[in-house]
Amino acid sequence: MRIVVLGGRGDLGARVVRALVARGHDAVAASRRSGVDLRTGDGLEGALAEVEAVVHAATSMRRPQDVDVAGARHVGATLRRLGSPAHVVSISIVGADRISYPYYRAKVHSEDALAQAGVNTTIVRATQFHALAAVLGAAFRLGPLSFSLRDMRVQPVDIDWVAERLADHAGGPAPSGFTRATDLAGPTAYDVRQIAELVAGHDGRRPPRVLRVPPLGDVLRGFSEGRIVPGPGVETGGRTFEEWLDGQPRPLPRRMHLPG
Ligand SMILES: NC(=O)c1ccc[n+]([C@@H]2O[C@H](COP(=O)([O-])OP(=O)(O)OC[C@H]3O[C@@H](n4cnc5c(N)ncnc54)[C@H](OP(=O)(O)O)[C@@H]3O)[C@@H](O)[C@H]2O)c1
Repeated sequence: MRIVVLGGRGDLGARVVRALVARGHDAVAASRRSGVDLRTGDGLEGALAEVEAVVHAATSMRRPQDVDVAGARHVGATLRRLGSPAHVVSISIVGADRISYPYYRAKVHSEDALAQAGVNTTIVRATQFHALAAVLGAAFRLGPLSFSLRDMRVQPVDIDWVAERLADHAGGPAPSGFTRATDLAGPTAYDVRQIAELVAGHDGRRPPRVLRVPPLGDVLRGFSEGRIVPGPGVETGGRTFEEWLDGQPRPLPRRMHLPG
């Protein structure tokens, strides 16, 4: 199949391209580097002509309304203009609709934009990738102290497994209309204190003393109340956080990849 991966040079997108090519698909990456700008729609018509599926894995943490949301609108409008039945597979975040964090709100607006565009769409929501969980567990560190939100829990997921599942959707049959696939998460949930301890153990440091920060405001309360942890019926798979951590350099780089 001919499949375009928007954001196909990004952390997730590059893995999706690799997974699709390994299965024999004609998969290409598209982004600003190849002349496709999702903020304006420039270059999309050429990129999406004659494709059977489109994976939307492009994002900007700083400008999600422009890239994730307007991008989804441009993809929908372009496919309609082309009269294309192509299947759009778009990545989103578990619990995005339960937290008022602006980036998460944009992910929901991006889903809505595709629903309203009337194109064949599968939304795949995943939990935080392991690298982001490591940042959450290690970012708020001051010497031997580590600060965490009271009771914050995460169920991080293996980015390589998410890429394979996106490739399954993109290479599989298209739904007729809009659908949300089963949410994806890693096999195990952790509280942020456990993540901080695992990262410290990996780095050869003593476990940090964790100080709890009270969840002030709706966004922090949302994270603290476990609204980003998946409910029942989630599909779990891929490496655990510990297995992923084992394959990382020691010490773990302080600046791990964040989207956008
Ligand atoms: N990280 C997590 O924990 C997590 C969890 C669940 C879901 N997700 C989702 O996974 C997706 C991918 O994240 P990622 O970490 O792989 O992102 P990333 O590495 O930052 O990649 C983003 C991609 O978007 C492209 N892009 C940015 N602005 C663009 C524009 N104006 N037009 C076209 N392309 C543009 C970039 O390419 P150019 O610079 O060449 O344009 C880049 O390839 C996001 O939708 C994110 O919400 C992430």
